[in-house]
Amino acid sequence: ANATPAERPGDTPLVLAHRGASAYAPENTLAAVDKAAELGIRWVENDVQRTRDGELIVMHDTTLDRTTDVEEVFPDRAPWNVSDFSAAEVARLDAGSWFSDSYAGARVPTLRQYLRKVGANHQKLLLEIKRPALYPGIEADTLEELGNEGWLGRGHVRSKLVIQSFDAESVSAVHSLKPAVKTGFLGTPAVGELREYARFTDQINPNYATVTQEYVDAVHAVKGVHGKPLEVFTWTVNDAPTARAMAETGVDGIITNYPDVVRDAMAHE
Ligand code: G3P
Ligand code: CA
Repeated sequence: ANATPAERPGDTPLVLAHRGASAYAPENTLAAVDKAAELGIRWVENDVQRTRDGELIVMHDTTLDRTTDVEEVFPDRAPWNVSDFSAAEVARLDAGSWFSDSYAGARVPTLRQYLRKVGANHQKLLLEIKRPALYPGIEADTLEELGNEGWLGRGHVRSKLVIQSFDAESVSAVHSLKPAVKTGFLGTPAVGELREYARFTDQINPNYATVTQEYVDAVHAVKGVHGKPLEVFTWTVNDAPTARAMAETGVDGIITNYPDVVRDAMAHE
């Protein structure tokens, strides 16, 4: 792994806050980023999609109804696809009340707002391009915004940013557009296919239920697109015993809604 020793004492996995510290604050909001920072967590994961008028926003589902009050604000707009709403409409939504009253009024962040918050907190970002087939060209749009916000400078690219997707074509497109940027493929490709993925990615990021010692060893045995062993960031690990089991396999990162629980599980290993 290419993290500094200070980040991975004793080679324990990095801890990444999934959708921010999403067990404690509404997922994919600035509050969830701040909650991760409060807990001392350096890495946050998020999901990026695009509005009808081309704004990049941070949202997991492809519809707005689970994590906002869109059904009340726009009752006639079912099924509330992200891609059917303008940025100004999304900005009117409450993305906190569904989680708890104490977060009432939290907004769906634009990618720009999100990058500024993560940067101000001196945190690092695992950015997922969510369902890119719905958003042609989102890879270039995302890279443009990252560039505008100063996230494609050498320091950022070396150690503060990874772009991942379940869609291999999207990961490959990111690599082609900006070869210096670190990338991850979300999934568990067959061992025999890893070399194909390594043409455009640095990481293989599997669901923890598919992770075995043998698989992690097989991934690490292949060099990624930047010439270092492919890394493994696994998701979504929400309890201490599973976190310890994953650490035993040698994964490089653990993505979790409970980053404090996972971090403490590592400390007591
Ligand atoms: O980063 C891994 C994880 O976020 C992938 O699943 O559905 O939470 O985006 P999902
Ligand atoms: Ca995600």
